[in-house]
Amino acid sequence: MKQDVTIKGAAHSSIIHDSAIKHVTGRAEYTDDLNEPAGTLHAYLGLSTVAHGRITSLDLDAVRKATGVHLVLTADDVPGENDISATGLHDEPLLARDLVQFHGQPIFAVIAETRDQARRACQLAQVDYAELPHATDVLAARDAGMGYVTKPLKLARGDMAALAAAPRRIDGRLTVGGQEHFYLESQIAMAIPGEDDEIAIHVSTQHPSEVQHMVAHVLDVPSNAVVVNVRRMGGGFGGKESQMNVFACVAALAAKRLGRAVKLRPDRDDDMSITGKRHDFVIDYQVGFDDSGRIHAVGGDFYARCGYAADLSGPVTDRALFHADNAYYYPAVELRSHPVKTNTCSNTAFRGFGGPQGVIMAERVIEEIAYALGRDPLEIRKLNLYENGQLTPYHQEVEDQILPRIFAELEASSDYHARRQAVLDFNARGGVIRKGIALTPVKFGISFTATWYNQAGALIHIYSDGSVHLNHGGTEMGQGLNTKVAQVVAEALGISIDRIRITRTTTEKVPNTSATAASSGTDLNGMAALDACQQLLARLTDFAARSHGVTADQIAIGETTRIGDAALPFAEFIRAAYLDRVQLSAAGFYKTPKIHWNRDTGQGRPFYYFAYGAACAEVAVDTLTGEYVIERADVLHDVGRSLNPALDKGQVEGAFVQGAGWLTSEELWWDDKGRLRTHAPSTYKIPLASDRPKVFNVALADWSVNRETTIKRSKAVGEPPFMLGISVFEALNMAVASFNGYRENPRLDAPATPERVLMAVERFR
Ligand code: MTE
Ligand code: MOS
Repeated sequence: MKQDVTIKGAAHSSIIHDSAIKHVTGRAEYTDDLNEPAGTLHAYLGLSTVAHGRITSLDLDAVRKATGVHLVLTADDVPGENDISATGLHDEPLLARDLVQFHGQPIFAVIAETRDQARRACQLAQVDYAELPHATDVLAARDAGMGYVTKPLKLARGDMAALAAAPRRIDGRLTVGGQEHFYLESQIAMAIPGEDDEIAIHVSTQHPSEVQHMVAHVLDVPSNAVVVNVRRMGGGFGGKESQMNVFACVAALAAKRLGRAVKLRPDRDDDMSITGKRHDFVIDYQVGFDDSGRIHAVGGDFYARCGYAADLSGPVTDRALFHADNAYYYPAVELRSHPVKTNTCSNTAFRGFGGPQGVIMAERVIEEIAYALGRDPLEIRKLNLYENGQLTPYHQEVEDQILPRIFAELEASSDYHARRQAVLDFNARGGVIRKGIALTPVKFGISFTATWYNQAGALIHIYSDGSVHLNHGGTEMGQGLNTKVAQVVAEALGISIDRIRITRTTTEKVPNTSATAASSGTDLNGMAALDACQQLLARLTDFAARSHGVTADQIAIGETTRIGDAALPFAEFIRAAYLDRVQLSAAGFYKTPKIHWNRDTGQGRPFYYFAYGAACAEVAVDTLTGEYVIERADVLHDVGRSLNPALDKGQVEGAFVQGAGWLTSEELWWDDKGRLRTHAPSTYKIPLASDRPKVFNVALADWSVNRETTIKRSKAVGEPPFMLGISVFEALNMAVASFNGYRENPRLDAPATPERVLMAVERFR
């Protein structure tokens, strides 16, 4: 029997984020808002003031004697292994001993009555170093023979002789900057010691199981002694996949030593100096093509600034190669990653996970061809789009190509062709203001390339009053994961979403979870929750059939549960099931099917499916100052059958603006001492509300249905639209190119800050 009620909050409905009202009224609890246990102490980290050197003396006497100080910790105080490397390469000490490898590396920790006391005491340390030569810049580090932090990857397919044989060839270099996560809630952890070896930690993290594992490792206790909790983050963006480890481990270590709760919250400047960021890249590329604009072969070397340790640099630089085709078929291709070690913070995950740095090379290649042939870049894009059946550089067959339709619809809705002509006419008048317009696509692979990460668990209890407790292994960072999973449960059980309580993520309820990352939170946890619902439904249906003497097809469980001719409220039905001793709790599990990947051969099917989208951006540049505005942006993005169109649109808008910020105003700058000088909002400029496109039309491709059996046929949304910001970058490039009749590609490097745009204009004028 089918449920005959409209379920409040069912899948595909645009309900608001479960915490939206709390977010905007300040009532949403973040880690720093939790009530502190009596006697809570505060930790602060003492940092290296050189980029590379041996510590010749570490005098912490004055620190220990400072007002309010209870304890000072160094590497010698670590009972387990002094290592927090996320990949098990043992290259990332919790606290540096003897050797420091970047300016800002934590060396010691101070625990005091107040945070202010701990912070001031840190300044009293006397540290002497024997400085060693350092390299912060990626090419300087390469040339200095710093080596790789992890094993590089090569992807190849086809015969690269096609590069030399092609009628035309262009070689070039693209420099693309990194990016600071700038989560509004900075890193934070509060550790509360328990009996024996037990410890509980509240921490802002995308990866509770990683914190659990790391704390256990550092304290030398089993994982079952450590409980990690996170209700929500005030943003993560990849910066809390591994980078919370140092804060959580130091807080835990101090809490165990002192038998008191310890909280550690660095201020923004220290957070930015200590933690890793998006990798910046230098990319050397070659493209062979013909006069029609068709690509014959592409080669690329991707040099990434990884920082002093591997962290997630292996999978990040791999993903750059996985996306160096973006949406285009390369008949012959050879791509190599170079994860270069540098004396900087260890770079990490950031929305797109290296993918954006690959995609932007593909778009640069397209622009090279278009400028060389004097054509509209959009024509070159369309000419080279994948057709179903063609192979990617990692030998996965493209089976779900929908970009031709997305392009056609977006060209029409954005009025691309007429507006491009208007831009050309406007620029032809030769004024100070120049315009540019670009329409660029994204094709993004969904799944963790570490195949074992593609698993998730959920735990659902139905209490005897009919209220539902929902828990899963994913974490909430503003993206709306909890709301979407609750929608899945509401629909599956046929009950109003108001019955469902969303609860904090904790390693106690769902074990061995993966990071909430790779955009796969809903795909994985939604499916795990559905599995739990199906177990509950099977038991409840069996009970209903037995108790009423009807068959399963005469039963519809829901807000009003119908069993044959009887109709009873959900709570009453559940109460009856309880009295009949039906188990009302279930643990669900899911693992993504079909995927496999062999890194040694560079072949496989690393991605379950692709998410697609396109954006058309128009910019206006003041060529006397280099300043610019985004006049208009039109986006058409594919999320399959959206679980929640309102939340998905929010993700697309935010990702677009964050992607545009990466390529325009956000610039990281290290001085020649290896010190990050852009470590605060005063020097590091993220987009403001006033930087958003003046006209911003965002639509979802509502006809798209995931051809794979994902949760309700939806597609992941978190990262793919980030790369739509590239349309802004290419539009700026066009505005600059107007100065010499579009005969030469200005080859703007990223970020295209007003300063860099002005320099490009001056070169072309
Ligand atoms: N949206 C908000 N509001 N805050 C965030 O920190 N992180 C992004 C994206 N959207 C993020 C966000 C990143 S990097 C990823 S991988 C996904 O959300 C993770 O969540 P999901 O898998 O549930 O989409
Ligand atoms: Mo997102 S970079 O995968 O956390």
